[in-house]
Amino acid sequence: MQKNILIAPSTEPCPIRKLGSYIKKLEDAGADWLHCDIMDGKFVPSRTYDELIFAIIRKSTMMPLDVHLMVSDPMRVVRSYAKYGANIITIHFECFDNKVRLINALQEIKQLGVSVGISIKPKTPIVLLDNILPYVDLVLVMSVEPGKSGQEFMKESLSRISHLNKKRSEFGYNFLIEVDGGVNEVNASIITVAGADVLVSGSTIYKSENIGKTIEALKGKNGYK
Ligand code: DX5
Ligand code: ZN
Repeated sequence: MQKNILIAPSTEPCPIRKLGSYIKKLEDAGADWLHCDIMDGKFVPSRTYDELIFAIIRKSTMMPLDVHLMVSDPMRVVRSYAKYGANIITIHFECFDNKVRLINALQEIKQLGVSVGISIKPKTPIVLLDNILPYVDLVLVMSVEPGKSGQEFMKESLSRISHLNKKRSEFGYNFLIEVDGGVNEVNASIITVAGADVLVSGSTIYKSENIGKTIEALKGKNGYK
């Protein structure tokens, strides 16, 4: 049986002033999650919105909110995002200088009553995540350098996804594999074949004239294989 792939459109590249109507469209079109890209201008050059705008987003939708923290000090803000209704909070591996501190951070986030994810930039060796995998509900594989939408999918990401998929079956872990960056109707199927469960989509969905159809295509329906 084909597994159900989840589609998580990102708030990037939608301008903040248009987010309200965009989120409504996404919800009506059957998006599974809303991927909230939070950038602080330090971990990545761009800045997006903060927890106060996030709180408004929470009030506007029933979709699960998947918070991707591209911020240099994630533990400073995780409590606010949990309090304002995040369902998943994902922090970056690169923000931590040692494994014990990272595992403590992941456990602290879990204790806030949300699911916890770890994200990894394209140039960080994927094997560095191996002993973190028992502590997470989700791994967010960046398939572009984080910071902006509209970049091209890095093909090297496929073997990184397969590595995680292999570890998951070898050790019986339950984390989801989410892929973020450059996902489109053409490459979605190879990404899911490699082992992805959740596809983030920024510009592909934002530019789409028929979001419902694009979501179906990303899921591998509508003739796209
Ligand atoms: C990239 C962000 C992504 C991005 C996705 O730094 O984390 O969520 O906006 O956009 P596309 O799908 O256009 O690469
Ligand atoms: Zn993201």
